[in-house]
Amino acid sequence: MKNILVTGGLGYIGSHTVVALHEAGFNPIIIDNCCNSSPLFLERIAKIIGPTPLYYNLDVCDSKALNEVFKTHEIQGVIHFAAYKSVGESVSDPLKYYRNNLDSLLTLLEIMKKQTSAKLIFSSSCSLYGDAKEQPVKETTPLEKSQSPYAHTKQVCEEILTATCLSEPKLNAISLRYFNPIGAHKSGIIGEAPIGIPSNLIPFLTQSVAGIRGPLTVYGSDYDTPDGTCIRDYIHVVDLADAHVIALKRLIANLNESNYELFNIGTGKGSSVLECIRTFEEVNGVKVNYTLGQRREGDVVKVWADTTKANEVLGWKTKLDLKDMLRSAWQWQLSGI
Ligand code: WQD
Repeated sequence: MKNILVTGGLGYIGSHTVVALHEAGFNPIIIDNCCNSSPLFLERIAKIIGPTPLYYNLDVCDSKALNEVFKTHEIQGVIHFAAYKSVGESVSDPLKYYRNNLDSLLTLLEIMKKQTSAKLIFSSSCSLYGDAKEQPVKETTPLEKSQSPYAHTKQVCEEILTATCLSEPKLNAISLRYFNPIGAHKSGIIGEAPIGIPSNLIPFLTQSVAGIRGPLTVYGSDYDTPDGTCIRDYIHVVDLADAHVIALKRLIANLNESNYELFNIGTGKGSSVLECIRTFEEVNGVKVNYTLGQRREGDVVKVWADTTKANEVLGWKTKLDLKDMLRSAWQWQLSGI
């Protein structure tokens, strides 16, 4: 089996991707310092796939420790998730974001460029489009000024990858620009488990409906959108995990057309905050208690994906819709894990 290093593999998207990698016949090796995840996810992943994946509790910025992993295992591919990802937190603590999100990629690339085979899938984000004038956004849509340090770190990381791949022909990388991942694995054993008060919409919403949090605050209802609330392209985390496996297979089979490619990974459909609330109530037969509050600094008004390139070049498309996402998010919340 091919060894695939998954940095941040105990996190929300990481854990779902580890399951998908195993099911596709790969051998995922997890690296995670659990700053935003829990070692409990290792047992949960094992409950789904059977074997317990190899796991190193280390920080990707620790070059010596990371190098040891590459010396110990023949690594055929790397999926790099390990990064901070809260738009709001990055506004209040930018240095934490620049230090971690840039250092982790730089450390990884310095080691990978010494390997005979270096194939990398990078966790990028739609937030780097900023408040794009054209919607849906294409991979060629000019990037607006980033709206948050988080988004800026993703822009800079992609620039680092562009320059490094140009100078290192044997480094082959694909950036997957995620839109908004939500939902949970059908088993209800893994899902989004933010530490502390969730900054993202859906985990806060499900915790509010479960009575763990107070009412949901809708951040802004006076935007230039049909119902005044922000629009995002919500994608099921399982569809997103599958995109990583397909992109990895593309690199391993040397099907990539250049040694740095990028793809929008979304559904191609935008949904407003109020639409999410209404759909959640409809599919789950519950009431969401919310108030209309002030705008949140760092938010873009609307962003959703043109997914033509991922559909036609990568050969990937979503299978699950917003109702599936919100139903699985509620099932995960009810599992009480
Ligand atoms: C969505 C909408 C909020 C909380 C996320 C990830 C980021 C990236 C992009 C992958 C916004 C509103 C939220 C709340 C609200 N993903 N909201 N009340 O900011 O789009 O970013 O997707 O890389 O990593 O964080 O997601 O869920 O925080 O916000 O009204 O309590 O919900 O204003 O309009 P965001 P989010």
